[in-house]
Amino acid sequence: MLSKVVTRPATPEDVPLISALHDRVFGPGRFARTAYRVREQKGPETEISAFCRLAMDGDQLVAAIRMSEISIGGNKGAALLGPLVVASEYAGQGFGRTLIREALETARTGDIKIVVLVGDEPYYGRFGFKRVAPGTITFPGPVNPARILAIELEDGALQRFTGLVSGR
Ligand SMILES: CC(C)(COP(=O)(O)OP(=O)(O)OC[C@H]1O[C@@H](n2cnc3c(N)ncnc32)[C@H](O)[C@@H]1OP(=O)(O)O)[C@@H](O)C(=O)NCCC(=O)NCCS
Repeated sequence: MLSKVVTRPATPEDVPLISALHDRVFGPGRFARTAYRVREQKGPETEISAFCRLAMDGDQLVAAIRMSEISIGGNKGAALLGPLVVASEYAGQGFGRTLIREALETARTGDIKIVVLVGDEPYYGRFGFKRVAPGTITFPGPVNPARILAIELEDGALQRFTGLVSGR
């Protein structure tokens, strides 16, 4: 069957659909994650940035990537990627990869200098994310330092963006 999956920016109306997929994949325990705490600092759970994207198969949600503008050590121009979630029946077909590439491209054109995330280096490494030096980028809550990854969208950003991640 020909795939009719399309990608597009997410809108606030998509939030219930995205939340339902997050619920299915991560369960309610996701709210305890430190990355969620950072996003909460920005406002309600409904917040959708210009960098959030979806893959849709008709009216079915295939995959969703969220990305929030943050500050690092008080410097604006950074973004936090996550969560990325792919519906299990669509896993391993490149939808995660497509949404990451598109979100990074949107961030680059949106004047974001650095994107950070908390996740698996073996997966995100292939997109250019690297572990940050221990203690250089910190979170307002418990995070495994080996899972703090970043990609520079502007040369030298890792030198300039150090300190505490904040949703404000
Ligand atoms: C992890 C996830 C986002 C990957 O998306 P996807 O669309 O299935 O993956 P893609 O098709 O882009 O890439 C598939 C490749 O990534 C690899 N991969 C998937 N998850 C991986 C992981 N955690 N670590 C290393 N490699 C991983 C696959 O083995 C496959 O490798 P191959 O290309 O060599 O065969 C998706 O499976 C998912 O939503 N998982 C549950 C939620 C989650 O863990 N989210 C990430 C944390 S926020």
